[in-house]
Amino acid sequence: MTEDRSLYLPNLAVIDRIAQETWDTKTFRAVFSDPGLRDAFTYHPGQFQEVSVFGVGEATFCLASTPTRRGYIEFSVKRVGALTAALHELTEGDAVGIRGPYGNWFPHEAMRGKRLLFVGGGIGMAPLRSLLNFCLDRRSEFGHIDIFYGARTPGDLCYTDEFDTWRTAPDVNLYLAVDKGDERWTGYVGVVPRYVREVAPAAENAVAITCGPPVMIKFTLPELQRLGFTDEQIITTLEMRMKCGVGKCGRCNIGHTYVCLDGPVFTYAQIRRFPPEF
Ligand SMILES: Cc1cc2nc3c(=O)[nH]c(=O)nc-3n(C[C@H](O)[C@H](O)[C@H](O)COP(=O)(O)OP(=O)(O)OC[C@H]3O[C@@H](n4cnc5c(N)ncnc54)[C@H](O)[C@@H]3O)c2cc1C
Ligand code: FES
Repeated sequence: MTEDRSLYLPNLAVIDRIAQETWDTKTFRAVFSDPGLRDAFTYHPGQFQEVSVFGVGEATFCLASTPTRRGYIEFSVKRVGALTAALHELTEGDAVGIRGPYGNWFPHEAMRGKRLLFVGGGIGMAPLRSLLNFCLDRRSEFGHIDIFYGARTPGDLCYTDEFDTWRTAPDVNLYLAVDKGDERWTGYVGVVPRYVREVAPAAENAVAITCGPPVMIKFTLPELQRLGFTDEQIITTLEMRMKCGVGKCGRCNIGHTYVCLDGPVFTYAQIRRFPPEF
């Protein structure tokens, strides 16, 4: 059987803006070189892409931008290994390869008219930012929005230049938390799950969308359940190791589920049905 190799062909894109979010995380804005693709490219919040640095390799990143803002895409990259280090070495004007968009997405159609509770930690805010800015651009379609976002220190928070836009949007509350403050930090000091418990957002007609370190998710789930959120009302996005992104390599499966095809977005009800080894 022959394989369609065009599946793996990246599209050329030029990095036109790089924002240093934290000491180890940068956000890249990329513009497709083909004007037709630049205009036609669209996606949904929660989807991901494969980004290649020529001569180095390829890695998976969620789309951190919103499809409501056309002409470019953004992805935020935490430096952890060879490929992410090579991305961090790039400068504005350099080219990368992009394949995608892949995977399913946050069910924004079903979220219409509902209260939204975002719970993000660290770089896990990247896919949530895509959905959040999507909802803010279509503000009248969604109900009240609570955003909980935590990091280890104030210097580890990404998207700080968007906080004022988020917190001043109509009917939106932004709750920032750090594990350890500094001399300038006047906000909450403590872990996100505890902050969620203290603020106690209503579960009625609400959806909770979470992404962050496993320990944050682990302790947030019981708080959400205590508030009355059912397993169907809690949505998360999984970051399993991936290679092909298109259901071919078998790298990302959990039992019969391929995270790259069936996910990466799952309800907690779906995750509970995964095999016990997960
Ligand atoms: C659907 C999806 C969305 C992602 N979105 C983002 C994103 O928006 N921003 C971002 O910075 N990263 C994201 N990642 C993770 C990103 O793909 C990895 O950090 C990247 O592949 C690391 O490549 P590397 O060559 O630099 O590091 P490697 O040399 O491959 O690994 C360095 C270290 O990072 C760990 N690591 C690598 N990949 C993962 C992973 N997927 N999960 C947990 N640990 C991992 C390795 O175990 C190792 O300890 C996402 C992954 C998936 C699957
Ligand atoms: S990443 Fe290859 S099958 Fe999912």
